[in-house]
Amino acid sequence: MLYSEKVMDHFRNPRNVGEIADADGIGEVGNAKCGDIMRMYIKVKDNIITDVKFMTFGCGSAIATSSIATEMIKGRSIDEALDLSNQAVVEALGGLPAHKIHCSVLAEEAVKAAVKDYYDKNGIKYDCDKYAAGSCPCVHEHDSLN
Ligand code: FES
Repeated sequence: MLYSEKVMDHFRNPRNVGEIADADGIGEVGNAKCGDIMRMYIKVKDNIITDVKFMTFGCGSAIATSSIATEMIKGRSIDEALDLSNQAVVEALGGLPAHKIHCSVLAEEAVKAAVKDYYDKNGIKYDCDKYAAGSCPCVHEHDSLN
Protein backbone atom coordinates (compact mmCIF):
# COMPACT_ATOMS: atom_id res chain seq x y z
CA MET A 1 0.00 0.00 0.00
CA LEU A 2 1.24 3.46 -0.86
CA TYR A 3 0.23 5.05 2.45
CA SER A 4 0.48 3.66 5.96
CA GLU A 5 -2.64 3.25 8.08
CA LYS A 6 -1.41 6.06 10.27
CA VAL A 7 -1.21 8.45 7.32
CA MET A 8 -4.71 7.49 6.24
CA ASP A 9 -5.98 7.92 9.79
CA HIS A 10 -4.53 11.41 10.16
CA PHE A 11 -5.69 12.35 6.68
CA ARG A 12 -9.25 11.20 7.34
CA ASN A 13 -9.44 12.38 10.96
CA PRO A 14 -6.94 15.20 11.30
CA ARG A 15 -6.26 16.26 14.90
CA ASN A 16 -6.22 19.85 16.07
CA VAL A 17 -7.69 21.39 12.94
CA GLY A 18 -8.69 25.02 13.17
CA GLU A 19 -7.46 28.40 14.22
CA ILE A 20 -6.57 30.00 17.55
CA ALA A 21 -7.96 33.52 17.62
CA ASP A 22 -5.55 34.76 20.29
CA ALA A 23 -2.57 32.69 19.21
CA ASP A 24 0.84 33.60 20.60
CA GLY A 25 2.49 32.57 17.36
CA ILE A 26 1.31 31.90 13.83
CA GLY A 27 3.46 30.35 11.16
CA GLU A 28 2.51 30.11 7.54
CA VAL A 29 4.61 28.28 5.03
CA GLY A 30 4.08 27.13 1.50
CA ASN A 31 5.70 25.10 -1.17
CA ALA A 32 5.85 27.02 -4.42
CA LYS A 33 6.11 23.86 -6.52
CA CYS A 34 2.96 22.08 -5.37
CA GLY A 35 1.19 25.21 -4.13
CA ASP A 36 0.30 23.70 -0.77
CA ILE A 37 0.00 26.03 2.21
CA MET A 38 0.16 25.23 5.91
CA ARG A 39 -0.68 27.53 8.80
CA MET A 40 0.16 26.65 12.40
CA TYR A 41 -1.16 28.43 15.51
CA ILE A 42 0.42 28.03 18.95
CA LYS A 43 -0.41 29.13 22.48
CA VAL A 44 2.59 29.34 24.76
CA LYS A 45 2.75 29.54 28.54
CA ASP A 46 5.96 29.34 30.55
CA ASN A 47 7.79 28.10 27.49
CA ILE A 48 5.32 25.24 27.01
CA ILE A 49 3.09 24.88 23.97
CA THR A 50 -0.26 24.59 25.67
CA ASP A 51 -2.35 24.50 22.52
CA VAL A 52 -1.80 24.13 18.82
CA LYS A 53 -4.05 24.15 15.79
CA PHE A 54 -3.45 24.01 12.07
CA MET A 55 -5.05 24.80 8.75
CA THR A 56 -3.62 23.09 5.71
CA PHE A 57 -4.62 23.76 2.16
CA GLY A 58 -2.91 20.98 0.35
CA CYS A 59 -2.47 17.32 -0.33
CA GLY A 60 -3.43 14.45 1.96
CA SER A 61 0.14 13.96 3.15
CA ALA A 62 0.41 17.63 4.05
CA ILE A 63 -2.74 17.26 6.14
CA ALA A 64 -1.47 14.05 7.78
CA THR A 65 1.98 15.50 8.55
CA SER A 66 0.62 18.71 10.01
CA SER A 67 -1.93 16.77 12.05
CA ILE A 68 0.65 14.48 13.63
CA ALA A 69 3.09 17.37 14.09
CA THR A 70 0.52 19.15 16.28
CA GLU A 71 0.21 16.02 18.42
CA MET A 72 3.98 15.78 18.71
CA ILE A 73 4.47 19.34 19.99
CA LYS A 74 1.37 19.84 22.14
CA GLY A 75 2.32 20.03 25.80
CA ARG A 76 6.01 20.14 24.90
CA SER A 77 8.52 22.91 25.44
CA ILE A 78 9.48 25.34 22.71
CA ASP A 79 12.90 23.73 22.52
CA GLU A 80 11.38 20.32 21.94
CA ALA A 81 9.16 21.78 19.24
CA LEU A 82 12.18 23.31 17.53
CA ASP A 83 13.87 19.92 17.61
CA LEU A 84 11.00 18.32 15.71
CA SER A 85 12.43 17.13 12.43
CA ASN A 86 10.57 16.15 9.32
CA GLN A 87 12.20 12.71 9.66
CA ALA A 88 10.58 12.32 13.07
CA VAL A 89 7.24 13.25 11.55
CA VAL A 90 7.69 10.70 8.76
CA GLU A 91 8.67 8.01 11.27
CA ALA A 92 5.68 8.77 13.48
CA LEU A 93 3.46 8.30 10.44
CA GLY A 94 5.02 4.96 9.62
CA GLY A 95 6.68 6.31 6.50
CA LEU A 96 5.79 8.35 3.46
CA PRO A 97 6.45 7.73 -0.23
CA ALA A 98 9.63 9.47 -1.43
CA HIS A 99 7.77 12.01 -3.52
CA LYS A 100 5.77 13.02 -0.44
CA ILE A 101 8.69 13.71 1.88
CA HIS A 102 8.51 17.42 1.07
CA CYS A 103 5.06 17.51 2.70
CA SER A 104 6.69 16.56 6.02
CA VAL A 105 9.28 19.30 5.51
CA LEU A 106 6.40 21.74 5.29
CA ALA A 107 5.13 20.53 8.68
CA GLU A 108 8.53 21.05 10.29
CA GLU A 109 8.77 24.50 8.74
CA ALA A 110 5.28 25.47 9.88
CA VAL A 111 6.09 24.60 13.51
CA LYS A 112 9.33 26.56 13.34
CA ALA A 113 7.68 29.53 11.67
CA ALA A 114 5.05 29.64 14.45
CA VAL A 115 7.78 29.60 17.09
CA LYS A 116 9.69 32.30 15.26
CA ASP A 117 6.55 34.44 15.19
CA TYR A 118 6.15 33.91 18.93
CA TYR A 119 9.78 34.89 19.49
CA ASP A 120 9.44 37.96 17.27
CA LYS A 121 6.26 39.13 19.02
CA ASN A 122 7.89 38.81 22.41
CA GLY A 123 11.28 40.20 21.48
CA ILE A 124 12.96 36.89 22.26
CA LYS A 125 16.23 36.27 20.47
CA TYR A 126 16.32 33.02 18.57
CA ASP A 127 19.09 30.98 17.18
CA CYS A 128 18.93 30.48 13.43
CA ASP A 129 20.96 27.31 13.88
CA LYS A 130 17.85 25.76 15.42
CA TYR A 131 16.30 25.88 12.00
CA ALA A 132 17.31 23.24 9.50
CA ALA A 133 19.37 24.51 6.60
CA GLY A 134 17.10 26.33 4.22
CA SER A 135 14.08 26.07 6.49
CA CYS A 136 14.93 28.89 8.86
CA PRO A 137 12.03 31.25 8.34
CA CYS A 138 14.45 34.17 7.99
CA VAL A 139 16.03 32.43 5.04
CA HIS A 140 12.69 31.20 3.86
CA GLU A 141 11.36 34.70 3.36
CA HIS A 142 14.12 35.41 0.90
CA ASP A 143 14.37 32.02 -0.68
CA SER A 144 12.06 31.76 -3.63
CA LEU A 145 13.10 28.16 -4.24
CA ASN A 146 11.26 27.00 -1.17
FE1 FES B 1 3.21 19.49 -1.65
FE2 FES B 1 2.06 17.62 -0.25
S1 FES B 1 2.23 17.70 -2.42
S2 FES B 1 2.85 19.47 0.47
